[in-house]
Amino acid sequence: MFEKVELIYIIVSAIIPILYLIRFATYKTKKKKQYGRAFIIAFLIFFILIFLGAAFKLVYENVGNKNVKDETTTTKTVETTESTTTTTVTKTTKVTTKASSYNYEKILAPTGGDIIGKSSKGYDIKVVDGLYYVDGLLIANKTYDLPDNYNPGSLNVTVKAAADKMFAAAKSEKGFNMWAQSGFRSYDTQKNLYNKYKNRDGQAEADKYSARPGYSEHQTGLAFDVCATNKPCITNGFDNTPEANWLSENAYKYGFILRYVKGKENETGYMHESWHFRYVGTELAEKLYNNGNWITLESYLGITSEYGGNKA
Ligand code: DAL
Ligand code: ZN
Repeated sequence: MFEKVELIYIIVSAIIPILYLIRFATYKTKKKKQYGRAFIIAFLIFFILIFLGAAFKLVYENVGNKNVKDETTTTKTVETTESTTTTTVTKTTKVTTKASSYNYEKILAPTGGDIIGKSSKGYDIKVVDGLYYVDGLLIANKTYDLPDNYNPGSLNVTVKAAADKMFAAAKSEKGFNMWAQSGFRSYDTQKNLYNKYKNRDGQAEADKYSARPGYSEHQTGLAFDVCATNKPCITNGFDNTPEANWLSENAYKYGFILRYVKGKENETGYMHESWHFRYVGTELAEKLYNNGNWITLESYLGITSEYGGNKA
């Protein structure tokens, strides 16, 4: 779409100096016409227009990238939906995709806090300011909740940058237009969503696909839900689409994991979500990708995901 606009702009930029030259050639004057000078002026007009266009595009893309709204503002009534209005620009930058060509670092846990125990796989469980970290990874699931007032306000910048790369790669490799539809969600936003689902489907059903307030990974700013142009958005209809398959096969290269794996609902505590990805850094993401047979974060770390479950 944007490429078409670019082409039209270039054509118009070329037509304007040509019109100028035609006008110059047909303009009646008694003076001797300086064609050389007219050509130089025409070229200058062309280059100035192209330069302005390129500058505009650069500014437009940067503003677009910054213009990410991570909060939920609208909700749909489709099954298992938690839709919102996050917009991530899908850039058409050429990306050479090779798992090893990226190294998105793990986001480190803050220093300090208390080690409260070890997971069943022997990883340290640490609490810092009411947040739980297992092997340095911030955890939000049914066992590990977040303080009500924990509010990073938006997607983490590292996560946002990695997501932009991933979406740009999907675009350049496959022509897919994908974006993070729902990124960061505050405690209150999650509360409204969850209550809406609870009222609609009852608590037992809602608990299968929506986190109670304070328990959503979206509140961490490390996870988001992906949507794609002309594909069902944040619903089971997204499963097995070429875009969902691409994400499942490639997200790990950018440090993301498919968080709620099919058939492993008893580990994650939630039904399969082909659209929900969480950042953990490339090293761990590749391990959990496990050549396409995704391992859950819970299983890898040796932790549970159940309301009221033991934290340590
Ligand atoms: N749908 C996921 C589990 C959430 O509500 O955070
Ligand atoms: Zn989600």
